Amino acid sequence: MRYLELREKLIAMFEANGIDEFADIDWIMVEILDVTRSMLPFYGDINGEKEHKIMEAAKKRVNHVPVAYIFGKTNFYGYDLKVNENVLIPRLDTEVLVEKLIEDIKSRNEKVSVLDIGTGSGAIIITIQKETNAKCFAVDISSAALKVATENAKTNRAEVEFVKSDLFEKISDLKVDFIVSNPPYIETEVVKTLDKEVVSNEPNLALDGGEDGLDFYRRIIKDAKHHLNKNGKLYFEIGYNQGESVSALMKDDFEMIEVIKDYGGNDRVVRGVLKG
Ligand SMILES: C[S@@+](CC[C@H](N)C(=O)[O-])C[C@H]1O[C@@H](n2cnc3c(N)ncnc32)[C@H](O)[C@@H]1O
Repeated sequence: MRYLELREKLIAMFEANGIDEFADIDWIMVEILDVTRSMLPFYGDINGEKEHKIMEAAKKRVNHVPVAYIFGKTNFYGYDLKVNENVLIPRLDTEVLVEKLIEDIKSRNEKVSVLDIGTGSGAIIITIQKETNAKCFAVDISSAALKVATENAKTNRAEVEFVKSDLFEKISDLKVDFIVSNPPYIETEVVKTLDKEVVSNEPNLALDGGEDGLDFYRRIIKDAKHHLNKNGKLYFEIGYNQGESVSALMKDDFEMIEVIKDYGGNDRVVRGVLKG
């Protein structure tokens, strides 16, 4: 079968199942045919075995499994990362947080230290380490997530010290220049209403931020001052409607608090400097 013919067949299958993310069809084909997206229309006859593999992957996708989980990998900020059901699939939105932090670290012109809380796949801290050569630490409460993050650091040759810890619990003596976190921040009631792709596949541990979504911000802000060096900075990813509430939580211990938007125009990052 030719590419266009198979694509039409898959579009019909997606539509019949109420899925309109047709770019995923190309992503599946790119993975299985091992060509770039622009080469797909020029691919010759897709043999029976490859067609079967494409159909199997498409069936998973219409059963609401995200493509990153089907193939066990994704790309974040140019870095290839393994993912599985124990880690959140790193989002494009998180690149804004990483970009701002990289800019800030580079402007320091000195070796700094960074701690990532709730590292998941390691996307944030691996990128920071590769882009800035900072001394990097990361924690997660999930051993399964840390296994993925450790493997990702190794394949990307990033030096990161990973610790299994409930927030700061197992790193009581650690002090750094920057703390960064994309914590679980979705309100418990809202988690249930998310797309099936998210709620049935991604770990609840990575999503549920408690009744008002702010549990982790409260806990991290409460202890961050004990783990930041002088002029240390705290960087958070936030939900689109959490800019004001997270800034308010930070104001006792932090100054120069800023809310930064993502490329979709939504509030996405809050950062602040530890008060002297
Ligand atoms: C929203 S995910 C972020 C993952 C990754 N940093 C990213 O941006 O793609 C939140 C992460 O926090 C971790 N987590 C949840 N509760 C935690 C806790 N009490 N202590 C440390 N990590 C926790 C979860 O296992 C999950 O990996």
